[in-house]
Amino acid sequence: MSIWSREARYRPLSDVDPESYRQMKEEVRNSPWRFRFHIQPPTGLLNDPNGFVHHDGSYHLFYQWFPLGPVHGLKYWYHLTSKNLVDWFDEGAALIPNDDPDSHGAFSGSGFVKDDQVYIMYTGNKRDADWKRHTSQIVGRLRGDGRIEKFLPPAIPDVPDGYTEHFRDPKVWREDDVWYCVIGAQRSDLTGCVVLFSSPDAYVWTMVGEIKTTLPDFGYMWECPDYFVLDGIGFLLFCPQGLAADGDRFRNVHQSGYIQGLPIVLPHTDFRHGPFQELDFGFDFYAPQTTLSPDGRRLLVGWIGLPDTTYPSDRYNWANALTLPRELKVIGGKLLQNPAVELEALRKETIFDSELVHSGMSKIADAETFELVLTLSVPLEEGLTLIVRASEAEETFIKYDAATRTLTLDRTRSGQEVASESFGTVRRTTLSEPLHHLRLFVDSSSIELFANLGEAVATARIFPKHTSTALKIEGEFEGNVSIYEL
Ligand code: FRU
Repeated sequence: MSIWSREARYRPLSDVDPESYRQMKEEVRNSPWRFRFHIQPPTGLLNDPNGFVHHDGSYHLFYQWFPLGPVHGLKYWYHLTSKNLVDWFDEGAALIPNDDPDSHGAFSGSGFVKDDQVYIMYTGNKRDADWKRHTSQIVGRLRGDGRIEKFLPPAIPDVPDGYTEHFRDPKVWREDDVWYCVIGAQRSDLTGCVVLFSSPDAYVWTMVGEIKTTLPDFGYMWECPDYFVLDGIGFLLFCPQGLAADGDRFRNVHQSGYIQGLPIVLPHTDFRHGPFQELDFGFDFYAPQTTLSPDGRRLLVGWIGLPDTTYPSDRYNWANALTLPRELKVIGGKLLQNPAVELEALRKETIFDSELVHSGMSKIADAETFELVLTLSVPLEEGLTLIVRASEAEETFIKYDAATRTLTLDRTRSGQEVASESFGTVRRTTLSEPLHHLRLFVDSSSIELFANLGEAVATARIFPKHTSTALKIEGEFEGNVSIYEL
């Protein structure tokens, strides 16, 4: 990473001649580990999902993008649209960081529909000659030609008193004819929090105050906040940075999760809530963003990746992907996350579909990119292990232990190492009820695991050889296993 000079990181795409960029694209296209069914960058680095919104029959989804290498540099917004959350149409770069307030990056933000048009609000990141950061919040509108028109000067030109320049990622919504947005912030005493603004028209914004939580000292910065009410419960999502690991929790470099409680009675800012809970117990999940589908489902997309992390595919000049869209639901007061139903359209051939009374270890299929659904008809006595993307030298384990109800994802032998392995190669969670259902999506270099119909989710990059395709099951169980090629 250090070979990337500041100059190289802040070089705009427009500086590169089309032929060199075409070659870069070609190199990326030929890279191993390119995804088959996930959103990934054509070149360079993808990070947070941005501007996720549905309008006029299409979903709009953008992502943070540095075009010229697998590092965090000058950020653009790359744009995709979809009618079904499965087939994504590539709309190209939509937001270009070429104005003074966003001269060092068009940072994260959200989308909303106003006057029957798609609007966004994002963070302009600027550095002065001494490399001092200045952030502002900018409103923009998606034009018919696919570019975002910015309304400058910024709607929120400066950081309010009491906060540092780490003030970013506005998430906008509307309630009772008032526009609101939450912004991720760092207080002057270097603790993280979320700040609320309101507006009559989504152009002129006034600070309401901090969302008052019972977590006054919980990490040094909260990034990418989101707030919504689902089934009568208020959810505040955010990504706290700087938490120490705590048993099986908080094992990654930064965390992503939520607190839930009685809905905030806006414009008041008191939030009575329970403990912080992680959204995903895997290795590579961060900066999620939600939106509503036209039929009222709350959908979530996250970044398969994390800040300050490098991957074996970096040497081919690209990095990261977005998660599959998940639908959020509340059952019995608990937040569940499942793959959006639309994703069933990804299924190609059925590789395996059978009722099993299983014992011992068996190889049941050869598959590289697939979905697996396991439904247990009888509670497990001991446990079971799924082994995917296996060969003699490589294997990825998903292991459930009935005695402790622990579910483990182990990438110790998954293939090429991820540099962040100083953070360990095993992740674990404890389920609140015995395992009865598992659903797995495996792409060329990722795995997304949904346990007990959304009670626990884990996302991870893995870097196996293309030829490591054995899929094995070990343990005594009765149930149904279906595997679909994707
Ligand atoms: C989170 C984040 C955001 C910021 C963006 C910059 O990953 O650091 O807080 O807006 O990425 O790319």
